Amino acid sequence: MPHLGGVLNCEFSMSRLFDIGLERLTGQPAFSGVVQGVTAEGRGTFFLETFGCQMNDHDSEKVAGVLLSRGYRQVETPEAASMILYNTCSIREKASQKVFSRLGEYREKQSEGKIIGVLGCVAQQEGERIFTRAPWVSLVCGSASYSKLPEMIAQLEAGNQRVTGLDTDTDETFETEVTRRDNPWRAYLTIIEGCDKACSYCVVPYTRGPERSRASDAILREVRQLADLGYSEVQLLGQTVNSYTDPTPRGMRFSELLLAVADVQGIRRVRFTTSHPSDFEKGIVEAIESQPKICDHVHLPVQSGSTKVLRAMQRTYSRGEYLEKIAMMRGASRLIAITTDIIVGFPGETESDFEETLSLLDEVQYDNLFSFKYSPRPNTPSLTMPDAIPEEEKGRRLAALQDKQREIQMKKHEALLGKTFEVLVSGKSRRENQWFGYSTSHRVINFASQANKLLGTYVQVHVTGAGPNNLAGEQVF
Ligand code: SAH
Ligand code: SF4
Ligand code: F3S
Repeated sequence: MPHLGGVLNCEFSMSRLFDIGLERLTGQPAFSGVVQGVTAEGRGTFFLETFGCQMNDHDSEKVAGVLLSRGYRQVETPEAASMILYNTCSIREKASQKVFSRLGEYREKQSEGKIIGVLGCVAQQEGERIFTRAPWVSLVCGSASYSKLPEMIAQLEAGNQRVTGLDTDTDETFETEVTRRDNPWRAYLTIIEGCDKACSYCVVPYTRGPERSRASDAILREVRQLADLGYSEVQLLGQTVNSYTDPTPRGMRFSELLLAVADVQGIRRVRFTTSHPSDFEKGIVEAIESQPKICDHVHLPVQSGSTKVLRAMQRTYSRGEYLEKIAMMRGASRLIAITTDIIVGFPGETESDFEETLSLLDEVQYDNLFSFKYSPRPNTPSLTMPDAIPEEEKGRRLAALQDKQREIQMKKHEALLGKTFEVLVSGKSRRENQWFGYSTSHRVINFASQANKLLGTYVQVHVTGAGPNNLAGEQVF
């Protein structure tokens, strides 16, 4: 699920608020894995800032883990750091512009002797050009090369002026001994890296390289470790998570992996994101039906309701085929919450194409929607497509789409008044005795409780109020 720019972006802001609040509450972020050979002497400090999707968030957790295990210390401000690392996103133009304006702010830091490094999708996409635009940067490393990061930093410390890690033709996934997770109850876990689809608007295949699945035994080992450390919710990640293909002789299908993860003792909730409609098969729905620990929520980005636009986007399915996947979920014995991503104003999108997207919203009745104005990206096939839509028109379509979705969500949430949900308590609001958390269907529920120490526990909440973006309620015992 994307984090940037969508209308109902509560997941992002909530988890951020929560992570920050949490560090304050617990004093330090959560570790998983055994920290071996930590020698603080002689090693520097690092400040790590992250933008982008959950995969980027999780990569940063792994990068931090690797550096901590080598004796570096993480600090909370760039001022306190000897190394500033910036993990970047380039999915839309605004996100990548932000990188260069932030790098501008770091300019004077390099003169103070600090190492400035750019990681992530902009690093991979721009490569050595970053050194020209921001000569104060000395490290540029894409996600497929993170395992080489300590080596690269050592080279800089030994006096090298500039280092890069830009290979994507690796079949390695970023396996780490140590991961410094931000959240002590919900653990992200990347099971498939890169992307082999070729959506005509998207930079991800260039910035994250080809698809590589992690071995199922390594995944299950990590899940067992997570459960031992007290994590109860696991979120499996991948740009096309359901395209997972186990590289081991065991040859687990994605749905089998879901069931195996849910079987691990101590795991109470299993989530997964993002699913690609073309690889979304019945087995996944059957897994959700048969195993209550697998959450009743599927994020299935559609991008457009018009088959003509889907073809131009190279999305590999038609409106009708997408709707068959929706019907598969609607026919399930458990009610499954469905969320999506939509791009408005793709080149050549006519008013009637856009109306097909609006009618798709009516038909599917999504539980949440992340919507974006089409943003032309370097090197992508859609960059040179004719019939660009003016920005103003994109804005109008985005607003119309979001208005419609707000109405749908309001109605859906009103229908939940009086129901009781299990909530994993994820944060405390500033208001006294007010908390928030997520239902299994990934709804944000704010609730009142006199209890203390609720963070990370599971409580029952009776819904008494509904807004378009969240529910409100009271804890019941
Ligand atoms: N792998 C996921 C999505 C990854 S990117 C999938 O296939 O669905 C997250 C979302 O950003 C996409 O679903 C899309 O809605 C949006 N996005 C990607 N490229 C974009 C672009 N060039 N302009 C606007 N939105 C874009
Ligand atoms: Fe991008 Fe398409 Fe891959 Fe998603 S499936 S990451 S939109 S190329
Ligand atoms: Fe952004 Fe890269 Fe994720 S472009 S959305 S950080 S895969």
